Amino acid sequence: MKSIQLNQKPDTIDLLKFLRPDEFPQQELFNEAGRVRKKYVGNKVYFRGLIEFSNVCSKDCYYCGIRKSNKNIARYNLSDEEILVAAVYACEQRYASIVLQSGELMNKMFIKRIDNLLKKIHRKTNGTLHITLSLGEQSKKTYRQWFESGAHRYLLRIETANRKLYSQIHPTDALHDFKVRMRALESLRELGYQTGTGVMIGLPFQTYDDLANDLLFMKDFGIDMVGMGPYIEHNDTPMYKYRSLLWTEQERLFATLRMIALLRIFMPDINIAATTALQSLDKMGREKALMAGANVIMPNITPGKYRDNYRLYNTKPCTDERADDSTECLSARIRMTGNSIGYGEWGDSKYYTRRRIKKT
Ligand code: 5AD
Repeated sequence: MKSIQLNQKPDTIDLLKFLRPDEFPQQELFNEAGRVRKKYVGNKVYFRGLIEFSNVCSKDCYYCGIRKSNKNIARYNLSDEEILVAAVYACEQRYASIVLQSGELMNKMFIKRIDNLLKKIHRKTNGTLHITLSLGEQSKKTYRQWFESGAHRYLLRIETANRKLYSQIHPTDALHDFKVRMRALESLRELGYQTGTGVMIGLPFQTYDDLANDLLFMKDFGIDMVGMGPYIEHNDTPMYKYRSLLWTEQERLFATLRMIALLRIFMPDINIAATTALQSLDKMGREKALMAGANVIMPNITPGKYRDNYRLYNTKPCTDERADDSTECLSARIRMTGNSIGYGEWGDSKYYTRRRIKKT
């Protein structure tokens, strides 16, 4: 039997041995990731209530269904009151954390709105919730302001660490610049956020070498949390024309699971999310991710009437990823994977806590 031996400092070639399909028995990889997870972060899964509060976006990413140029969706923007109701719901469900996500806007009104919202949420929930923001690239000043108003964590995916591929999947202008994305990630970390990133897996033109390098990027950066998922085509986006180049859905699903498992093995105490896109490819996709090393799940708590319009990619009618997110249903599914749920716990990244202690 082959064993999973990763060097202290693995390189692309070392990772490829486990990442490529059919090179290594993947179930063994998943089992090992499960053991590493148990040893370093335990068997608890933490909930983050996801509030997708607006799909209005100033960006035009070629892969994304809510890109500015897509005229085929109804744009929406929840009121502060609706967001507060969702935040209180998360508290009642003992999720202990929420994620505020929306399309990217950088104007003054938006910045001020988030600032106020953070304060309102903390007031309303007596500071019991940890808040993650997923609101794209902003200036360091804005990130600082939001941090001081009570944001704890920030998710900003690098999408791909390959600059050339990054430029192929985004327009070529200052709004979609890899360097700006990198600087934003660095600012977040410098300011003290628990910093999260991630990539899409199975993009057209992407190779296994790219994916191995994505893992090395996360390790080198010293990221605290990761959410990565399969790329899924959306018919109202420019990248749809490359759909014939895509790996099959099964390949994208399993490549994502192997990425999660490898990342767990070589960054043992970070937080890794079982992402929604996985569930879109396979009804049990998130549960499979939990068994391959993930330890965070993000139930969607956006009010029902808006959910259909936050469509980043095509979803299949038979796998309505939002239908199964009631707390009872989710908790039963999680227990089935042999895990328990960290109700009422923030579930901060242990890696983050460790690096903050080291710093002082
Ligand atoms: N398929 C999979 N993930 C996507 N995202 C955007 N569009 C798609 C797609 N078509 C992801 C991006 C972004 C996150 C909010 O959603 O990685 O950072």
